Amino acid sequence: MTKAPRSAGRIAVQATLKPRELMTDTPELASAWTAKIITLFPQAFPGVLGESLMGRALKDGLWQLQTYDLRSYGIGKHRNVDDTPAGGGAGMVLRADVLEQAIGDVHRGTRGVVPLVYLSPRGRRFDQSMAQSWARADGVTLLCGRFEGVDERVLQHYGIQEVSLGDFVMTGGEIAAQAMIDATVRLLPGVLGNAESAVEESFSAGLLEHPQYTKPAEWQGHNIPDVLLSGNHAKIAQWRKAEAERITRTRRPDLWDTLQQQAKKPEK
Ligand SMILES: C[S@@+](CC[C@H](N)C(=O)[O-])C[C@H]1O[C@@H](n2cnc3c(N)ncnc32)[C@H](O)[C@@H]1O
Repeated sequence: MTKAPRSAGRIAVQATLKPRELMTDTPELASAWTAKIITLFPQAFPGVLGESLMGRALKDGLWQLQTYDLRSYGIGKHRNVDDTPAGGGAGMVLRADVLEQAIGDVHRGTRGVVPLVYLSPRGRRFDQSMAQSWARADGVTLLCGRFEGVDERVLQHYGIQEVSLGDFVMTGGEIAAQAMIDATVRLLPGVLGNAESAVEESFSAGLLEHPQYTKPAEWQGHNIPDVLLSGNHAKIAQWRKAEAERITRTRRPDLWDTLQQQAKKPEK
């Protein structure tokens, strides 16, 4: 039986809607970019995604969030979702047959181009270009692991892409999911107050961002660089570019090298 996902955002505050109507089929939201999360902890959402610009955009229907409670697909009276690893060893593994039910429900309600992702320290490292590509899609479905992770057969059967937040191990995928959704949703049209801010910031042109300053002009004996107070916009742009290049070269030689390689490639 298909289970209704829990929705957050604009649809959640329309008190007159009945539960079935709170799903993606709601006409005004059918086209909104949608994050679907399969998790044992749906109550962890929207979490920080309900705050500030992200929360406002969620309420305004610029994007939507649906959680699928993995426990509700569990087996038996105790709704078991996991079992011991085949071959022995510590911990528990999320069962393929339980995940199949949840993924099936997600698929039934999904239209368009929607990457299916398992959050995993083994995966390709999440980065700005992945956020940009997800933002161009119709949404993303994120499977949050727990314990020792998920049965490998599920990943292979559905061709699920593994994506990591970084080279460290967390207890579950929920924090990684929120980080990746935040990075993606802020790229959607209308989410950031000032569209320029996404254009100039770190990684957008392959460079880290230049330093930022604000009032007071002098603090603890430290002054804001004169050029930033000069009013000469061409010089300011030149200074910022040079600083972005200096910071990228010294802190992230890997990014700098990539940029140099790209600059050498003949244009097609
Ligand atoms: C304790 S971890 C499992 C680690 C797994 N046994 C391994 O060694 O690769 C439990 C879950 O947390 C999530 N997780 C942990 N670290 C992560 C990371 N760096 N990026 C994304 N998800 C992570 C994954 O969903 C994972 O299934």
